Amino acid sequence: MEQPWWRDAVIYQVYVRSFADGNGDGVGDLAGVRSRLGYLRDLGVDALWFTPWYESPLADGGYDVADYRAIEPTFGTLAEAEALITEALEVGIKTIIDIVPNHVSDQHPWFVAAIDDGPTSGMRERFWFRPGRGADGSEPPNGWMSIFGDAAWTRTKNPDGTKGDWYLHLFAPAQPDLNWDDDAVQAEHEAVIRFWFDRGAAGIRIDSAALAIKDPELPDVGGADDEHPYVDREEIHDLYRSWRTIADGYDPPRALIGELWLEDAERFARYLRPDELHGAFNFDFLCCAWEANALRACIDTTLRIHAPVGAPPSWVLSNHDVTRVVTRYGRADTTFSFAAKHGLVPTDLELGERRARAAALLAAALPGTLYVYQGEELGLPEVEDLPPEHIHDPMYFQSGGTDPGRDGCRVPLPWSGTVAPFGFGPDGSTPWLPQPAGWADRTVAAEIADDTSMLTLYRSVIELRRERLHGATFAWLPSPADVLSFSRGDVACTVNLSSQPVEPPPGVILVASLPLADGLIPPDGAVWIEISQPNDQGGPR
Ligand code: NOJ
Repeated sequence: MEQPWWRDAVIYQVYVRSFADGNGDGVGDLAGVRSRLGYLRDLGVDALWFTPWYESPLADGGYDVADYRAIEPTFGTLAEAEALITEALEVGIKTIIDIVPNHVSDQHPWFVAAIDDGPTSGMRERFWFRPGRGADGSEPPNGWMSIFGDAAWTRTKNPDGTKGDWYLHLFAPAQPDLNWDDDAVQAEHEAVIRFWFDRGAAGIRIDSAALAIKDPELPDVGGADDEHPYVDREEIHDLYRSWRTIADGYDPPRALIGELWLEDAERFARYLRPDELHGAFNFDFLCCAWEANALRACIDTTLRIHAPVGAPPSWVLSNHDVTRVVTRYGRADTTFSFAAKHGLVPTDLELGERRARAAALLAAALPGTLYVYQGEELGLPEVEDLPPEHIHDPMYFQSGGTDPGRDGCRVPLPWSGTVAPFGFGPDGSTPWLPQPAGWADRTVAAEIADDTSMLTLYRSVIELRRERLHGATFAWLPSPADVLSFSRGDVACTVNLSSQPVEPPPGVILVASLPLADGLIPPDGAVWIEISQPNDQGGPR
């Protein structure tokens, strides 16, 4: 039986604001995406995941939704979104939209009413309003901290100007948290999901998927209760079961993908049980060091936890929240963690690019879903010298500038030409974040013309993956400790993480991340080889 598309799809993440600017206002938009569908078709992707494109003050890049049924006016209109979904399908590409259950914008009509109507407003039931602690209520209701830094509570002003209750926001103050115990919150999200499924969306990506449900007592973190007051609470599984029923009610069924930052791999896998989400992002892989034992352990754990629930693993190297992969792999510490993100550290971009090329072959060869974040296929580095006056990310501001924030991986894409805006928008337009002057040889046009470019490599690998790996069984092959080698059917992938050249398995080379020297894979290189004797035995190496 043909397996559902999402089990081994290549899903390309579009950060609309930075993809392509159709109208020249410096901000990416749906017209820009529509004009580049040919590029995405030629890249060979199966689906696009759009970070939130809804009406929003963009206090957190759109993860502050004011109206789910309208498109952010700087991005376009609902009619354009509908046309985009249809046109993408015409070139064989599905659409996944982003749903943000944990919070809305402080400009969402519910929150506006909750503030404007004062402390007795029924709308306050949909959020977490609480009186402050201390004699005059001047202390936040509990000690929870925002994930962006600072307290997770902001005090309101009453309509008469006096100081009022506080409201909870696990992210920016402009993102008040919703109360999922409230029926209206549940009903509205069901309606929104149907709204987009009815318009042809093939799936949803669920933002901060483990955070939405809170212990209504709002106890401090680390209290007597076994469960965390807001991370990974048991009740959340019922919510996703109910969404699964909605998704399964469509023909073809729609897919649910979770953004789950959970340390415990077994807890993570519980979200992927057959009646819950279809898939989730593999952040262990995204955070993993460029080191053979760490990667091998990550791959083993990933495969081990997904097998019993029958869900496809996913392989993610980057997204709009993390350091671009070429930069990360060019540092002494090649792991990613939000906690350790600060300041400039020495970076060898040439080394980082070699590794990123090998990592592309590794990620694309592993069984499951592959995610590609826009610009990853061009080998764009993190832009680490954005002038502070250009920074938009609340993570930068709420950390008092100690965290550089995430704008460095969100710089508008270079498409063509030798000077900014590099075809991102019409000549003479000014992109909302400045592009580095040196991106002329990183444009799509330059890379298409270059057989050795990252883009050419991504195109080849995605095509080969479709032709050769569909449904193929994974098995480790014998290899030295600092080399990763495995087969998928009659294709072997070998990644050399050692400091010496290594011999590839015997067979015909299908693609190599770097030229081989005397038939050997150079350090930080990878190859795919057609092997004569497929090793389908499985099991650990
Ligand atoms: C995760 C998203 O990927 C990130 O960009 C956003 O800031 C937070 N969730 C809050 O919505």
